[in-house]
Amino acid sequence: MKPFKIRDVLISPPLVLSPMAGVTDVPFRALLKRRGGIGLTVSEFISVEGLTRNNPKSKRQMRFFEYERPFAVQIFGGQPERMRMAAEMAEEVGADILDVNCGCPAPKVVRHGGGSGLLRDHARLETILKEIRRAITIPLTIKIRAGYYDNNINAVETAKLAEQCGVEHIALHGRTKEQGYKGRANWDLVRQIKEVVRVPVSGSGDVTTPAEAFARWRETGCDGVLIGRGAMANPWIFRQIAEIVEGKEPYDPTLADKRAVLLEYFELLRADMPEFAAVGRMKQLAGQFTRGLPGGARFRQVIYHSHSVTEVLDRIEEYFETVASGRTYVGEGGAGEPEEAPALDSCEAAAVEA
Ligand SMILES: Cc1cc2nc3c(=O)[nH]c(=O)nc-3n(C[C@H](O)[C@H](O)[C@H](O)COP(=O)(O)O)c2cc1C
Repeated sequence: MKPFKIRDVLISPPLVLSPMAGVTDVPFRALLKRRGGIGLTVSEFISVEGLTRNNPKSKRQMRFFEYERPFAVQIFGGQPERMRMAAEMAEEVGADILDVNCGCPAPKVVRHGGGSGLLRDHARLETILKEIRRAITIPLTIKIRAGYYDNNINAVETAKLAEQCGVEHIALHGRTKEQGYKGRANWDLVRQIKEVVRVPVSGSGDVTTPAEAFARWRETGCDGVLIGRGAMANPWIFRQIAEIVEGKEPYDPTLADKRAVLLEYFELLRADMPEFAAVGRMKQLAGQFTRGLPGGARFRQVIYHSHSVTEVLDRIEEYFETVASGRTYVGEGGAGEPEEAPALDSCEAAAVEA
């Protein structure tokens, strides 16, 4: 694995924290960036309707810090004029790269022609990309899916069109819009795109271990690898990959490190948002984070039913103490309420809010 460039922007190491709506905001990116090994960070997807109508939430989503550079702002929408205006705003706030979302499957986004809707409307995609290309000077990139329909995989055509419109990096999540998050991502399409375009190409989907990142990179010849859900379950994954590349033994987090990272995340969240929102985000990460740990399922139930900062902190302490002492975690609370936090697996929820 070696660094690559998106025009003059160096992506080193060639690893990208994949954009995740409702997840990759300032606190989450800070948490991950502090662990190292990330070559490019991307905002959550931001609604161009919100941005161009001065919606405070959308503007807030464009915030980033110097330590995050290189940083890409990702926008979504289906209206060329608004897409262009939003792209100009991203350039104005100093983003290094402007990324266009062509992958979100949420009905609310697709209905207006945006997200994965652009994969079945190449004429609209072309207009949007050309408008944006003319308006901004920073590199323009896109993130696409395999196609819209399962029976019409058109990622290669989409990539060729994008390159003709001046796009300078293509990231592919190898599932169709119809597929949603089911099945496995098709990484062979990354290889196929790489064969036909000159701009750098990166792949996304189902990388949860360093070994998988190396395997996908070797199999496809891709320039970069994006990691999303795998980074929620293991915030050290980028650092581990970078260490292996440097010939070092990869960092092996202890139980105490895992407890500490959850508490650190909570501090970052509390500094950035109201308590109820921080508690919600915390539940989300705690849920992903404890998959595979002993008593993790029970912990997720308990944490899902916690409502205040103190309660969440107490539950975390209790859980990690129990696991460290080798006892079985039974946990208090949440009794008679079997369900845990719903699996987090798309931009859907965030799009409904947008
Ligand atoms: C909760 C969630 C939100 C997502 N939001 C976005 C988004 O805003 N923009 C985007 O391009 N992709 C989004 N994705 C897709 C991811 O960036 C990534 O392509 C996909 O999850 C597959 O990679 P992974 O298996 O590494 O997570 C989202 C995925 C998840 C799970």
